[in-house]
Amino acid sequence: MGESSPFTAAIAPGGLPVLGHALQLQRRPLEFLASLPAHGDVVTLRFGPVPVYLVCHPELARRVLQDGRTFDKGGLVFDKAKVFLGNGLATCPRADHRRQRRLVQPAFHPDRITAYTEVVLRETTRMMEGWQPGQAVEIRAQMHRLSAQITARTLLSTDFGGADANELASCMAIVSKGLYRQMLMPVAALQRLPTPANRRFHQALARLRALISRVVADYRRHPGDRGDLLSALLAARDEDSGATLDDQEIHDQVLTLMGAGSETSGNALAWTFHYLGTHPDVETRLHAELDAVLAGRAPHIGDLPQLDVVRRAFTETLRLRPPGWLATRITTTATELAGRPIPAGANVAVSHYALHHDRRWFPHPEHFDPDRWLPERAHRVPRGAMIPFGAGSRKCIGDTLALTSAALVMAAIANRWRLGHQPGPTLRAVPRMTLGLSPLHMLLTPRPGSPSASD
Ligand code: HEM
Repeated sequence: MGESSPFTAAIAPGGLPVLGHALQLQRRPLEFLASLPAHGDVVTLRFGPVPVYLVCHPELARRVLQDGRTFDKGGLVFDKAKVFLGNGLATCPRADHRRQRRLVQPAFHPDRITAYTEVVLRETTRMMEGWQPGQAVEIRAQMHRLSAQITARTLLSTDFGGADANELASCMAIVSKGLYRQMLMPVAALQRLPTPANRRFHQALARLRALISRVVADYRRHPGDRGDLLSALLAARDEDSGATLDDQEIHDQVLTLMGAGSETSGNALAWTFHYLGTHPDVETRLHAELDAVLAGRAPHIGDLPQLDVVRRAFTETLRLRPPGWLATRITTTATELAGRPIPAGANVAVSHYALHHDRRWFPHPEHFDPDRWLPERAHRVPRGAMIPFGAGSRKCIGDTLALTSAALVMAAIANRWRLGHQPGPTLRAVPRMTLGLSPLHMLLTPRPGSPSASD
């Protein structure tokens, strides 16, 4: 079998007795994962005693992500997430997925996305109202808060005042951090120890659940389409069976969408402003594009097809720092990868980060080069090599919403402000449930022609 496969299989170097590669995965996961494609197309690592098969070739990554029958949702990443986030769209097994996806999909219909972009622009404007020329702002915190507000308000448009949105955002940050710690504990008993971090995690999760239950109950009491995601979830009805989502399922979907939608976008936006600040050539082109297209007015969704530099800069950030950097699957049956037999119940992993940093498709992979996405160059990238939103039936349901929102946030901010770097500690990547970053302090300078320039 092995001889007939065009792909190569290897064992990851540096495994220790008992721990396997758990230390590398805990301490330097990005560097470790990105080093593995050089060893083979499928590389076996061990997480404690558990073997994990990492697929490192774009074609195999697509096969794993598209063949949900053999490679079902589950494994190290999602099994832990499921315990806390419930059986929502992102974590449910294949057996539930088709029904859930059909019920949730209408909430992401293009017509509704247009309405959600009004929330995006309103929240971005509100954030910038607090900005002053010459002020230094912590952009990571600002983008996290903005994305949490946007996700909260697209999900739940009403009665979601500042206090609730703040609480939701701060609980979500604690839960996300805690989930990652839980995921990396090879010994299950450690997760239940009453340490301060475990207690903080469980308290934040309980507050989050209570908050969501309260809002869902409120919507049930006052039915009607408020134009938001929650209204669409409550109205969802399966065309064939007439089935709807029950309260527990709605709760799990809201938690899932909140979890999947806010930190991902917040981190991607913060990274984007970091790269623009460190690449003045790209920033100058982006400003020139905004000046030509917007001529000083605020952006709207109709401008997006003309904002090429904005789109390419964000795409390149998603390549370099993909918020979803690792996904796992569990095999439902014995199979093979690169000619290597894989038993049923095995962990198979896809690292978006490792795929996006493979120098075979992305020369100088650490270099921020938005022009990789010019059509004449982009067509050379093989399918499966650039998958920031995944692939197959489990592909991100929020991809269009995320891309549209991010482009509008970038356009609205860069239209009015230049975000400059300040001397300080070197920015670090912080891989958790999503790929975050250390605090990012940037200096605000009003752009000529923006209302703030005359302040
Ligand atoms: C830049 C922003 C985002 C990135 C990079 C991103 C990335 C991803 C990735 C890689 C997956 C697939 C995971 C896998 O294969 O196991 C995924 C799934 C998902 N995402 Fe996103 N996402 C983003 C924004 C959003 C937003 C805004 C929402 C909703 C408000 C969302 C909701 C979901 C859901 C529900 C799933 C599970 C889909 C399913 O299994 O059917 N995401 N996302």
